[in-house]
Amino acid sequence: MEVVILANAKEIGAVAADAIGALLDRQPDAVIGLATGSSPLMIYDELALRCAAGLVSFSRARGFTLDEYVGLPADHPERYHNVIDRVFVSRVDFAPGAVRGPDGLAADIPAACAAYEDAIRQAGGIDLQILGIGTDGHIAFNEPGSSLASRTRIKTLTRQTRIDNARFFGGDVDAVPTHCLTQGLATIMEARHVVLVATGSHKAEAVHHLVEGPVSAMWPATILQHHPHVTVLLDDAAAQRLQLAGYYRETYRAKPDWQGI
Ligand code: F6R
Repeated sequence: MEVVILANAKEIGAVAADAIGALLDRQPDAVIGLATGSSPLMIYDELALRCAAGLVSFSRARGFTLDEYVGLPADHPERYHNVIDRVFVSRVDFAPGAVRGPDGLAADIPAACAAYEDAIRQAGGIDLQILGIGTDGHIAFNEPGSSLASRTRIKTLTRQTRIDNARFFGGDVDAVPTHCLTQGLATIMEARHVVLVATGSHKAEAVHHLVEGPVSAMWPATILQHHPHVTVLLDDAAAQRLQLAGYYRETYRAKPDWQGI
């Protein structure tokens, strides 16, 4: 696991956009895993700017989102399909239909989850997965106690996650759906490169467990310690509880420019 501590969100966005740009240069039809929430917004902003400037193109790429609320109407602004379209997809040059998400309105939920796993497999798997992390250590919506071997399925959101996400629903916790469809931890572990972003002191405890804690279903993100290519992009506040912060900074400073993340 490579830990990169950067000065601010803009630098995080640039480093992640460099990795995605390099991937698309060598593989224009790459498959990119997209997260919603606040954490990746700086990456999407940077990629939108680079796309407008002709520096990167998604015209042959495909995308898969991590998760979707169950039961939100198709036109609800907080439905993740609509969110990712607004914050990223509509701002770059993906082909129509190139970005998919789990179907939170499916009548047959297990079949929809199996179909989503199939679609990812048929696309050749995810080349680069963008992730955020919940304050309770979830990735996608694999809440504490999730099986470390889980695949796409329905999950109940914790009260903490619903409180954290109430800001997108006018501050009303009860308006946040109780269930979601989410890629499982084993699904995420199959991505070839995982880039996890965390900013702010409210993420410091989860980041401490992710990077330096024991692997445990109580902090689901810790499964990433078993992944061969994970990059964790942090600001100072999110890194404040890391015991080896000095070592991570020194290692990144000494890295040759050509190497990337
Ligand atoms: C979103 C997702 C979640 C978020 C996490 C952090 O698709 O899968 O795991 O990444 O809840 O959310 P933010 O970034 O809003 O703090």
